[in-house]
Amino acid sequence: MHRVTVPLIGVASAWRDAARGFLVAGVPPEQVLWNSEAQEGGADLFGASGPLPAAGAGVTVPRSFVALAGTVVFHRDPQRFARLYALLWRLRNTPHLMSDRADPELAKLHAMEKAVHRCRHKMRAFVRFREIGAPDAPRRSFAAWFEPAHYTLEMNTGFFRDRFADMDWRIVTPDVTATFAQGEVHLDQGQPAPLLPEDASEELWLTYFRNIFNPARLKVNAMTAEMPRKYWKNLPEAAAIPELVAGAPARARAMAATAPSLPPMRAAAAQASLARHVSAWADTGEGLEAAIRSCTRCPLHCMATQAVCGEGPHRAALMVVGEQPGDSEDLAGRPFVGPAGQVFDKVAAEAGLDRSKVYVTNAVKHFKYIPRGRKRIHQRPDAGEVEQCKWWLDAEIARARPELILAMGATAALALTGSGRDIMKRRGTVERGRLGHDVLITLHPSYLLRLPDPQARLRATADFRADLAVAARLVGNATIAPSARLR
Ligand code: URA
Repeated sequence: MHRVTVPLIGVASAWRDAARGFLVAGVPPEQVLWNSEAQEGGADLFGASGPLPAAGAGVTVPRSFVALAGTVVFHRDPQRFARLYALLWRLRNTPHLMSDRADPELAKLHAMEKAVHRCRHKMRAFVRFREIGAPDAPRRSFAAWFEPAHYTLEMNTGFFRDRFADMDWRIVTPDVTATFAQGEVHLDQGQPAPLLPEDASEELWLTYFRNIFNPARLKVNAMTAEMPRKYWKNLPEAAAIPELVAGAPARARAMAATAPSLPPMRAAAAQASLARHVSAWADTGEGLEAAIRSCTRCPLHCMATQAVCGEGPHRAALMVVGEQPGDSEDLAGRPFVGPAGQVFDKVAAEAGLDRSKVYVTNAVKHFKYIPRGRKRIHQRPDAGEVEQCKWWLDAEIARARPELILAMGATAALALTGSGRDIMKRRGTVERGRLGHDVLITLHPSYLLRLPDPQARLRATADFRADLAVAARLVGNATIAPSARLR
């Protein structure tokens, strides 16, 4: 039986050397008793009883194991070294073990790795230094006391060295102390919590914390998950938490009551300017397309090939509004010519709707996507982008003067009625739009393309067809006459 005590400082390389030596010598896991200086106390550094094989002979292990072991050695579980060695031993004959998600030991070690990473992050976030140096010292000195859940100080020294290179500092934990002086970090055994002076920066922290605290967005569970209570005793700002949490509902109500109710002065000027433009476009029908094509109102224009204007008669009884141009529309410069457009054309024809008499457009005029390899992956426009583009949609509506607007999907419904929610409940109903128009809500044709279940797709297509038929009938553009659910 081999007995190894892994030191508290330099743990990663110590465990690695010992494990490599045992592996090369063919020592199975059950013949090694791993101890930790941290947990055992006594510094029996590498006190192997039985000959310890020399490290260094060639062994190849997957990089993913090296990374895993390099983190798990800092976990507090007394079995961590033995678990790692057992996995290393199995890897000799099972080279693909590291990608076996079902292996319970590997899963356990990954969970430990995650816990160490979390602890490393918490240490970076919650170490609070207090000034300890003499006022006339050439360099300022600070010290902090911290109680990490795992042995993460050693793995964090690089972070603190780079971040606080312009001062001398000491971080004391119950296990290890890190001291940064003259550009170098030294690690020693842990020390008792030092008596740290109150510090002027604490009041600053408190004030800062009080100022960034937003009572209207308080979520106590999320806050305590991010800033666990066990760290509060060493966080100066934590002193303010109970008072801030208790006062949050009243402050949130007060904020709502005093929220500005008047639009900023520039909004009135912008509205007046829009009204002038819209009436010019509404009267002459000229210039709107050119204005849309030169739109830079939101950042979407930077990525898109071009703005895609609506298409169809400028005066139209029925206006159809989709979400935004897709990949094909962005390249072609025309709305609804890609896969969703083909579904729309087919179902419209079945519903007796004559597209040539309809003005077809989108709530947002530029294609929003993220590049992935050679593909451009569609992204739904957000409420701000929809808001910016209403400028153009409203101008198109003013010009077309439709009797009915068909809103296809949530984005169109949002732009036209102010709400994009519950489309499947609202579909087939006519609502009063923001500008006073009748808006018939229906689903978006791309929804039909995404439905995997053929039966569900058939049902949804029938609903869509019925809505298009209703739209056609309501504006006298159809040959068939289903009934609408009006409200
Ligand atoms: N989807 C839309 O909403 N509009 C188009 O023009 C194409 C796809």
